[in-house]
Amino acid sequence: MKKYTLITGASAGIGWELARVAAAQGNHLVLVARRRERLQQLAEELKSQYNVEVIVLASDLTDQNAATAIFDFCQREKLQVQHLVNNAGLGDLGFFSEAEVGKQCEMIQVNITALTLLTRLFLPSMLAAGYGRILNIASVAAFQPGPLMAVYYATKSYVLHFSEAIANELEKSGVTVTVACPGPTESEFKFVAHMEESGLMKNRKNPSSREVAAFSYAAMMKGKRVAIHGLQYRIMVFMARFSPRSWTARIARFMNAPR
Ligand SMILES: NC(=O)c1ccc[n+]([C@@H]2O[C@H](COP(=O)([O-])OP(=O)(O)OC[C@H]3O[C@@H](n4cnc5c(N)ncnc54)[C@H](OP(=O)(O)O)[C@@H]3O)[C@@H](O)[C@H]2O)c1
Repeated sequence: MKKYTLITGASAGIGWELARVAAAQGNHLVLVARRRERLQQLAEELKSQYNVEVIVLASDLTDQNAATAIFDFCQREKLQVQHLVNNAGLGDLGFFSEAEVGKQCEMIQVNITALTLLTRLFLPSMLAAGYGRILNIASVAAFQPGPLMAVYYATKSYVLHFSEAIANELEKSGVTVTVACPGPTESEFKFVAHMEESGLMKNRKNPSSREVAAFSYAAMMKGKRVAIHGLQYRIMVFMARFSPRSWTARIARFMNAPR
């Protein structure tokens, strides 16, 4: 069976760049997102540039059957997924009391449910092979409550704690779980989350998706458990341990608020 790296959310931003990094390292790829044309465009580019196989799988991860359908496809086509990258995700800025209900559900489904199911489904074959790498993209949002993005921050806390817990369970199995925690990053995320005016995005020079992808991929290959991108965020996360949670919530609200 040929070995593949499966990346969700590869049609834009960090996932697009993760696909480029993985292909440059000679990995065959399965690329997942809703926008098939974008995936196909990337696939053509990577196939000709790096001489790797790239399979495009258009899938909406808000569909509760999506993870099983992706897994079944890989089984049917005899694709052995040795690296699983759960990157697809979305946010939403605003007061929770006014938030669009459907979008909050979408966030939970993509950021939490699909990530959990894909991990559960692909893990046994990694364990049987005695080797596997799982990369879950959380955020520095995972480390504190996030007023004005309450559901998003909470989903990323889930990703952090879930990843750390199974990393512990998988010790000495040959399978590692890495949770990458980027800060604000240039991508399509801010448009989807209506964050163009947020203090985290407006008039700021945030790191590129390429930089965050290279950092996250390297952490996954090293089997690092928690990889926080950027010195300022490593300091912030460290300081948060000693601060009252009402303060960290207040600071997060200030940072998230439109300017
Ligand atoms: N950018 C930031 O500031 C930042 C900071 C910290 C963490 N992150 C995290 O990094 C990850 C990647 O985000 P990004 O910044 O690269 O955002 P992005 O540019 O908006 O890309 C998001 C990706 O997720 C896919 N996606 C969204 N909803 C989906 C669905 N229902 N089904 C399948 N795929 C879906 C999108 O593809 P389609 O639209 O084609 O489906 C796209 O490929 C996310 O988990 C995000 O939470 C981002």
